[in-house]
Amino acid sequence: MLPTPYVKCDYEKVYEPAEDSFLLLDSLEKDLQFLQTRFDGNLAIVCELGPGSGIVTTFMMQNNIPSHNGALYLALDINPWALEGTLQTATLNNCIKENGHSGYLEPVQSDLTTGLRDKQVDLLVFNPPYVPAEEVPEIPDTKENIDQWLDLALLGGVDGMEITGKVLDSLETVLSPKGVAYILFCARNKPEQLVQKIMQEDPSWDIELIEHRKAGWEVLSVYRFMHK
Ligand SMILES: C[S@@+](CC[C@H](N)C(=O)[O-])C[C@H]1O[C@@H](n2cnc3c(N)ncnc32)[C@H](O)[C@@H]1O
Repeated sequence: MLPTPYVKCDYEKVYEPAEDSFLLLDSLEKDLQFLQTRFDGNLAIVCELGPGSGIVTTFMMQNNIPSHNGALYLALDINPWALEGTLQTATLNNCIKENGHSGYLEPVQSDLTTGLRDKQVDLLVFNPPYVPAEEVPEIPDTKENIDQWLDLALLGGVDGMEITGKVLDSLETVLSPKGVAYILFCARNKPEQLVQKIMQEDPSWDIELIEHRKAGWEVLSVYRFMHK
């Protein structure tokens, strides 16, 4: 079993790693061989959307996911505290070294994939705000509106799918030709129906359930999206 990064953040400002974060780590670990074979020999571009504390990005950096040849890790979060948290977690786990480190980390404040160049991302990972709510909260005006940043980490609007839906719509544009995305859902997002619909509309998609787990009264699942 691969080690879980040590994380020490201010959880009043960034999302505290929970069952969903750990399910994503387990999914990446399960697919480690698959990813290393797929990206063997390449310098990969990795993008985590919504890194929060940085636990998932740090895990990928620690374990050469997806390639032993190194990677550029983009950590894109709308919450400015999450960018600091991600850098702090990567540093705490010795992933940022002066010399000879396995990858490069760029935490960037961004609204989802809007700042990305087309067809560049080899590995995209997202544990989204997936909890159903009347609406997605507004983006806070200032960094100091701490509670509002945490709401944004959790609430996904109608069916909990408003944010995830935007990312799914952008996959075709942002993924490289060999690109792979791992996205987390809760049962109330109705992921099975969604996956059926996407594959019916475009049979070139290859979408697979990688891990699922009961977490309290929720059932969480991680699906892998790529083209055949
Ligand atoms: C459920 S948390 C996941 C945090 C971390 N990846 C983990 O697994 O522990 C969702 C993250 O998405 C970020 N987020 C929410 N809306 C976003 C948006 N529009 N653009 C970028 N990041 C967003 C939140 O700030 C939060 O850090």
